[in-house]
Amino acid sequence: MSAFTEWVRDFEAQVERRRAVGDPDFTRTAHMPAPIVASVQRFQVGESGDGANLIAKASTGGDADYQAAVRMFVAEEQNHARLLALLLASAGATTIGGHWTDAVFVRLRRALGLRLELMVLLIAEVVALGYYRALRDGSGDPLTSEVAGRILADEQRHVPFHCLRLREGFARTPAVVRRLVRGIWWVLLVGATITVTWDHGPALRHLGVTRRGFVVDVAGLFRTALSGVQDRRNSLLPSQTIGS
Ligand SMILES: [Fe+2]
Ligand SMILES: [Fe+2]
Repeated sequence: MSAFTEWVRDFEAQVERRRAVGDPDFTRTAHMPAPIVASVQRFQVGESGDGANLIAKASTGGDADYQAAVRMFVAEEQNHARLLALLLASAGATTIGGHWTDAVFVRLRRALGLRLELMVLLIAEVVALGYYRALRDGSGDPLTSEVAGRILADEQRHVPFHCLRLREGFARTPAVVRRLVRGIWWVLLVGATITVTWDHGPALRHLGVTRRGFVVDVAGLFRTALSGVQDRRNSLLPSQTIGS
């Protein structure tokens, strides 16, 4: 039994839960001002990758449970893209073909091994936690809040899932190297978060979040996530979601 057996069960339970609950009622109209539409379109692109690269890298590790969990994780991200596309349609908007921030992110991740890819992915997940929380709480539109809340609940599970694999990945890394990695990780996190606040500034303003507030928020979430990677007493079970 691997550390990921529980996670396989959790991902399977989520599939069942989604089936039982069904989709939000997308026949309603979503009222989204233009900056929110532009912002959601960009996040929709980010959620829509096929994950083939990550699945291929996960399959080299020999942990069948982890491989199965990664497949279901990728399916959840694709479901986010589907929900956001339906939300945009309810607002009378379309999806976009691509965005440069996503192109940079995808190219960067492809060039890396599993551990480094997960480090970059964790940054994206933590930024997403801050973003969907702001969208859920600040949009003022019931359908938008419902979709953002559902996606947020998944992202809250994704963070400890990646943290567990990263903890295993760094288990034999000397403490001094780990400290260096942590420093570089923070630099990347701050750089990515500032890029997002710059790119999504008008939308964040509509949501009642200042750029500075967003950076502080994401930094706090990242600190919690890092403690999950480092602290071995932290069990990182599926029930331990991060960032409500
Ligand atoms: Fe997602
Ligand atoms: Fe995610």
